[in-house]
Order: sequence, then structure tokens, then C-alpha cells
Amino acid sequence: MAEELQIEHTSEFYKPSQSVIEQANVKEYDEQYKRSIEDPQAYWAEQAEELEWYKKWDKVLDDSNPPFYKWFTGGKINIIHNAIDRHLTTERKNKLAIIWEGEPGDVRTFTYHALNREVSEMANILKAMGVKKGDIVTIYMPQIPELLFSMLACAKIGAAHSVVYGGFSVEALHDRIDDARSRVLLTADGGYRRGKATRLKEIANGAMKRSPTIEVCITVKRTGGDVKMVEGRDFWYHDLKEMPFAKGKCETEVMDAEDMLFILYTSGTTGKPKGVVHTHGGYAVYTATTLKSVFDLKDTDRWWCAADPGWITGHSYIVYSPFINGATVMLYEGAPAHPFPDRWWGMIEKYGVTVLYTSPTAIRGLMRFGSDWPGRHDLSSLRLLGSVGEPINPEAWRWYYEVIGNKNCPIMDTWWQTETGGFMITPLPITPLKPGSATKPFFGIDTAVVDEVGEQVKPGEEGYLVVKAPWPGMLRTIHGDPDRYKEQYWSAYPDKMWYHVGDAARIDKDGYSWIIGRVDDVLKVSGYRLGTAEVESALVSHPDVAESAVVGLPHELKGNAIHAYAILRAGLQGSDALAKELRTHVRKEMGPIAMPESITFVEELPKTRSGKIMRRVLRAKALGQDVGDVSTLET
Ligand code: WT7
Repeated sequence: MAEELQIEHTSEFYKPSQSVIEQANVKEYDEQYKRSIEDPQAYWAEQAEELEWYKKWDKVLDDSNPPFYKWFTGGKINIIHNAIDRHLTTERKNKLAIIWEGEPGDVRTFTYHALNREVSEMANILKAMGVKKGDIVTIYMPQIPELLFSMLACAKIGAAHSVVYGGFSVEALHDRIDDARSRVLLTADGGYRRGKATRLKEIANGAMKRSPTIEVCITVKRTGGDVKMVEGRDFWYHDLKEMPFAKGKCETEVMDAEDMLFILYTSGTTGKPKGVVHTHGGYAVYTATTLKSVFDLKDTDRWWCAADPGWITGHSYIVYSPFINGATVMLYEGAPAHPFPDRWWGMIEKYGVTVLYTSPTAIRGLMRFGSDWPGRHDLSSLRLLGSVGEPINPEAWRWYYEVIGNKNCPIMDTWWQTETGGFMITPLPITPLKPGSATKPFFGIDTAVVDEVGEQVKPGEEGYLVVKAPWPGMLRTIHGDPDRYKEQYWSAYPDKMWYHVGDAARIDKDGYSWIIGRVDDVLKVSGYRLGTAEVESALVSHPDVAESAVVGLPHELKGNAIHAYAILRAGLQGSDALAKELRTHVRKEMGPIAMPESITFVEELPKTRSGKIMRRVLRAKALGQDVGDVSTLET
């Protein structure tokens, strides 16, 4: 039996075992892919039929005003009806929806019935606070069940949420609240991370001081520390839950398929983060279909996507699509290696997790502690593994595959983005794998690798990744800035309506895609996406800094690490103490993920004649490489 489960490893491919293929939800790729590209609308209509609609759509795709595509127009739906309501009349009602473990070891579980009660109470409270359909509620929370309830509650009453990752700090939170013009902020006093309580409410207070739109702030008590509450604006969630208005049934709002579900800010090439807009109908169809096909979800699965719900990975594959598929979702509050490096492996054993989906950074971080830690645990419940966020290096891939998956679990290396809503290039369980390749596009996704003028490059050659046709999970616009949406994503090849990804890639002779990395001024640090311009603007917000430039340099654990260059104001001298102060300043303004690894004080920065900083030159110099063509450099 063990023999039969082994994945065959040929010189190039890791082939899935017969048993993996036999139980796969999707059993064939080539034919179905071909059909899905020839007639994407037929494919997506078929997938949309799997959901419950209050009213069916009139049109699958409205492409009358590209790139402002609309999906399932005329359709009436609410994603919550599909994620929660419809399960309550089936045997799933008493099934576990959430298993949550806090970092200190406290455990809370919720059946679908209980999830509905929690979400309804939160929704009732939001309504009592005046939240209406179309409002944008900002959520800033640690990884506690209430984060999920908040998001789901907004969706239930037709409000959009804007979740700001709990690792961000004052400036980042304030920027996002302002852009969304939120009236209501949901937060918590703190959460646990590496044995310490974070101080979220304090950061929220700092942001609210600068953000005049917030009228109501609801705080969940998690850590019990001292927090400052402002009379008339700040409420404890547990107090509101006791109020009569919180109790009882809450109707799920009937939404148009194209109504906004959420905005999620992501870093781009300018300092201002982009509020990526997703909608109820297309997003529900896309995330549900991709999860079911790629991670082969079954009713018996215990699914653990170990991302933070505050990022797109968590939005799509913790909060929405697993519930649409009726799965049991595992959620953990804290750090992977706390208090010991086997924390994750212990939870996989304890809860019988069947599918684990995480990032190369997390894998590399845990690999560093050696194979004895996972070796102490029975991980045989696992049947599939996943990776996302950055290219996975073959060494980490093999360790994940051999030590964690015991050579029985294919690894789904899923390439996608905040903007795409769900997996775009990804294996299926039946796909023969090559370590480090995200393999092939999902059904209905028409990708290509092209040069500057849009010509397809030869197999094996590097070029720009594009998507040649719209898909239901795609972003609809950038909140408040439709021009930027058009310009950023759809204008690279003027005579063609292609989605410009921003990644370099190549496709090999077998049609396998290899993602190389970003081609713009966006960095992936530990899988997190950061704009160089955001970090630079945090640096120049320090009174001593006149100008700065930030580059990413390779880092063993993080993939890339941030290195900053700073020109000080006239008369000031750089010192170790000032470098330390600047790093701390960025950390305070942006959050720990944005803190530069190093600061170098310089007299000038390489610039083009039009004044653009040539980060490429800084990078090459730092790596001791040839600086390449600098003919456009200012002299
Ligand atoms: C960028 C998008 C999608 C959820 C998490 C990241 C990089 C993402 C992979 C992968 C190689 C990857 C790309 C992409 N990326 N997944 N499997 N292999 N690179 O979402 O923060 O919007 O970042 O992450 O560069 O453009 P995001």
C-alpha cells in the first residue's frame, strides 16, 4: 500500500499516485482546458450553476465596456447565502465550520449553526451602528474568529469590508481608512504573537487620531490589556453583544452579482496603495471552483490555509470559498514556531488536518529547525500540500514534499495575485509536478509570456506574463480610481485588451510556467507584497531624511529583504544610531514587515534624466554585478 501511494519521480516529473488520481474531483485536464478556452462562458456558467442564486444571471459576461468587465449580470446572489445559509438546512448544519487555536493554546470551535449565530449577531450590531449596504467597514484584527465573523457579517448585510492586515501600523492603517472613507472600524485590544500581546487598539487609536471619518470603533477583547477607549466612539464588542438589538435572526441582503463584496489594499508602483475591488457573484464562483478543483476539497477534509485572513489568500481561501464548499477550516492565531518549532506539526496531528496550504517563507523558516521536529508527529492525515506567495526554491519544495508530505502528497504551487481573486496558474492533484513550477493555467485562464511589443516569446525564454481574456474572479476596478485600473493593468499593449500581470515568467517546452518575479517596483518580502515607494515615503517622513531609495536583495529565509539608501538633510551625518532609528521609524509607521534590513547613507542616488530613481543600478551595485546599460543616467 505504502508503495502504491509513493509518487513516482522521473528525471523531470513527480507523478501523482493512482490513489490521488482516483479520488480527484477533476480527472482530466487537457480536453477540459481546451474546451474552457474555446468557450469560457459555457465553462463558467456550468460552475455558477453549483451555487444558489436568488435569481439567475441574464448574461455570463458583459464585455461591452472593456476593461470594465461584468460577470453574471442580472444575477442576484449573496456570497453568505452560499457560504452559510444554504448549509443550515442540510446535515452540514452541525458540522464543524471552524477549529481555532489561540497561540496560548486556547481552543474555540464553531459548527455552521454556531457560525451563523455569531455572524448574525455581528451583522445586527453593525446595522444598529448605522452600517448600510454599500458602506465600507474597515477591519483591523488579529487572527481570531471575530475577524472572520466581521468580514462575513459585512457581506451578509451588503456592506463591503476593507481588512487591514494586523501586522500593519499607524500610517498604513490611517491611509487605508482614509481612502475607503470608513465610518466604522472593527478592531481588538490585541492578539498573541511569539508569546507577547500585540497592541492593536493602541495603533487603531493612533490611526483614528489622523482619520476623521471614523465615528464608531468596536473592539473585541482578546488579550485583556489596558486600552484607551473614547466615550461615544468606542464600544466593547462583548457589551454590544448583550444588547437586545444584537439578538435574533438577521436576513441576508439580496445583492446584484456585481455589487462590491470587499476592497483589499495592495502595494503598487506608487506610494498610494490600491484598493482592489471584488464582487459577490464572480468572486464566489471563481474561488469556490478553484478550491474544489485544485485542493480537491471533500466533506471529510480539514483544510488549513495557514495565511492571515487579512490577505487575499485568507479572504479567498479561509473566509469564503472553504465555507462555500462546506469544509472544516482550521485557524491558528500565532507564530509557527511558538513555543517550539513543532507547533504546526502538533496541530496537524491533533486536528487531523488533511490539506495544508502555506508559503515558501514559512516552509523555509520551519525547515531551518530540522526534520526531527515534524518527525515527532503523525502527519499521515495529510493528503495534499500547497504553496503560494513567491516562487518556491527546489530545496524547500523537496523538504516539504519528503518530510512533511512523506512523498505521498502532491504540492499545489498556486500562482495568483490579490487582483486575480483566486488561483490562476496551478497544478491539479492529477498534474505531474516539477519542483518550482506552478505548472499550467486553470480552466478558462488564457495566459501567455510575451515581449515588450506583445509577441509571444519562444519556449524557455523569459518575458512578461499576461492574461488574454477576462475571468470571473478578476478585480473590477481600483476603488475610487478607475483610470489607474485601466492604466496599470490593461494598457501595456495598446491594441490588445490583455491583463498585465507585472511578473516575469517563462514557459518551458512542456508548457509548464515558471514565475521569475516582479518586473515593477514591487517587492515580495517573506511573501508579503510591498511597494518600494511606500517604504521610501515612510523613510522620508522622518525629519532627518531628504530622499531615499529602497531595493530588494536576495535573502535566504525571506526570499527578498529590503535594503534602503538615504540622503540626509544638509548638515547631518549618518551614524549607526541614526540607521537604527530610521529602521525603527519605518517599523512604527508601516509595520514590522516593512522594516529595512540595512540603511546605507549616500550623497546621491542614481537617476534617469527625467528624475526617476534607477533602483536597478543600486541593486546591481549591491550585488557586485555589472550595472548594465546606464546611458539614460543623469550625468
Ligand atoms: C505576487 C502577488 C496570491 C496570494 C498571495 C500573493 C507572487 C504569488 C506565487 C507562486 C511565484 C508567486 C507573484 C505575484 N506570487 N504566488 N506560486 N509562485 N510567485 O498575492 O500579495 O497580490 O502578490 O506574488 O509575484 O505577482 P499578492
